[in-house]
Amino acid sequence: MTPEEFRAYGHQLIDWIADYRASVADRPVMARTEPGEIRAQLPKQPPIRPEPFADVLADLDSIVLPGLSHWQHPRFFGYFPSNGLLASVLGDYASTGLGVLGLSWQSSPALTEVEEVVTDWMRQMVGLSDAWSGVIQDTASTSTLIALLSAREQATHYSLSRAGLQAEPKPLSVYVTAHAHSSVDKAALLAGLGRANIHIIPHDANYAMRPDALRARISDDVAAGFVPCAIVCTTGTTTSTAYDPLEQIVPVAKAFSVWLHVDAAMAGSAMILPELRHMWNGIEGADSIVINPHKWLGAAFDASLYYVRDPQHLIRVMSTNPSYLRSSVDERVKNLRDWGLPLGRRFRALKLWFLIREQGVEGLQARLRRDLANAQWLADQIRATPGWKILAPVTLQTLCVRHEPAWLVGEPLEATGASERIDAYTQAWADRLNRSGAAYLTPAILDGRWMVRISIGAAPTEREHVAALWEAMQNETGRAEP
Ligand SMILES: Cc1ncc(COP(=O)(O)O)c(C=O)c1O
Repeated sequence: MTPEEFRAYGHQLIDWIADYRASVADRPVMARTEPGEIRAQLPKQPPIRPEPFADVLADLDSIVLPGLSHWQHPRFFGYFPSNGLLASVLGDYASTGLGVLGLSWQSSPALTEVEEVVTDWMRQMVGLSDAWSGVIQDTASTSTLIALLSAREQATHYSLSRAGLQAEPKPLSVYVTAHAHSSVDKAALLAGLGRANIHIIPHDANYAMRPDALRARISDDVAAGFVPCAIVCTTGTTTSTAYDPLEQIVPVAKAFSVWLHVDAAMAGSAMILPELRHMWNGIEGADSIVINPHKWLGAAFDASLYYVRDPQHLIRVMSTNPSYLRSSVDERVKNLRDWGLPLGRRFRALKLWFLIREQGVEGLQARLRRDLANAQWLADQIRATPGWKILAPVTLQTLCVRHEPAWLVGEPLEATGASERIDAYTQAWADRLNRSGAAYLTPAILDGRWMVRISIGAAPTEREHVAALWEAMQNETGRAEP
């Protein structure tokens, strides 16, 4: 493709995306695709001869689009918001179009320095002190893996420079609640810590870690010969956006010299609102934080921010520094390859830079406040309607709800079989609603029972869309009544 052909097709593709965003509300939110349906429409072998590029674009419409669930849809209430605001999409294009790689500062100086500036802007936006240094990773899963590798090396006094974990005399332990994201388990396993050493600390009625239980468990473990390695707290758990009380957990971490990592992948974006920063009171006592601007904030996937208080420790854990990557300015610059796993790095900072400049901090704040108000509005409707329950505090924009109609329950939930009947009923109405295309929400388990999770915050979602969801929920459940 020549630059001139690129110009022509590029304009077409931009138009196509603009049309998609403008009309996405007319599509069913969840894909109605059967497994294998898309694959069956594609040739099994690659084309031997070049194909007209127009055919590729046509297949986007006829084959790919029908096989998608639409995350940028105003009635998308599933999982979590993953907003790719259009300014950020352009930043992503610019990055790909430039095709530069940040192997070292020298390989693309602006890539590193824009990233330094943007991570520092975000630090200020979420109210962190200037003791924190940031770097962009791909996802929170990677950030948390790096945190646990850093924790492991702190706890073992740099075992990597000796025989690694294989020569450690005592097992290292990690502390989380049952509401920590599965990426924490994965990171602990990949860091070689072992499932048996991931300890689940009890949580309170609001699904937040109990600091007393944490302290007791770590004391017992030390007495039993374990080396406490890391506590992973969450600000905004995946199921209910609960937040662990950092202010009371920090002293425990300090008392036992344990690494404290805070997974604020979801709620970190909300910290741009000063009125919500109480959720992570005590954050300055943590060692590392992950925040995903590719969730609610609006940065096109993927862009995850990883902040540390001690960059020298991070570099010591991550750096290998072969001769062919050294340069004469290394003493004066950041080489971000030493701040994470990959050597080659995309220019991810551009999409955040474009986003923050186009929206301004105030623009981003206004949208998040709109979503918080919409969540409270829906919670009020649900609370006021007989048979419906809100099951967890609505701390942000996520609601955990269940419909327990009298005709189905008819007896206390604890009665034999009642829970199972409600579980089946809950999954069935959520599935019907999703298949109807009217909206998309995610059933999940809370306290061992099925409920429906509603995550508000897709960028185009206004009050009318939340009202439409509420109507669809009532229709689906009303229809099931005998
Ligand atoms: C609290 C929390 N942590 C971690 C993750 C994982 O994020 P990523 O997909 O960026 O690895 C999620 C996303 O669902 C999350 O909600």
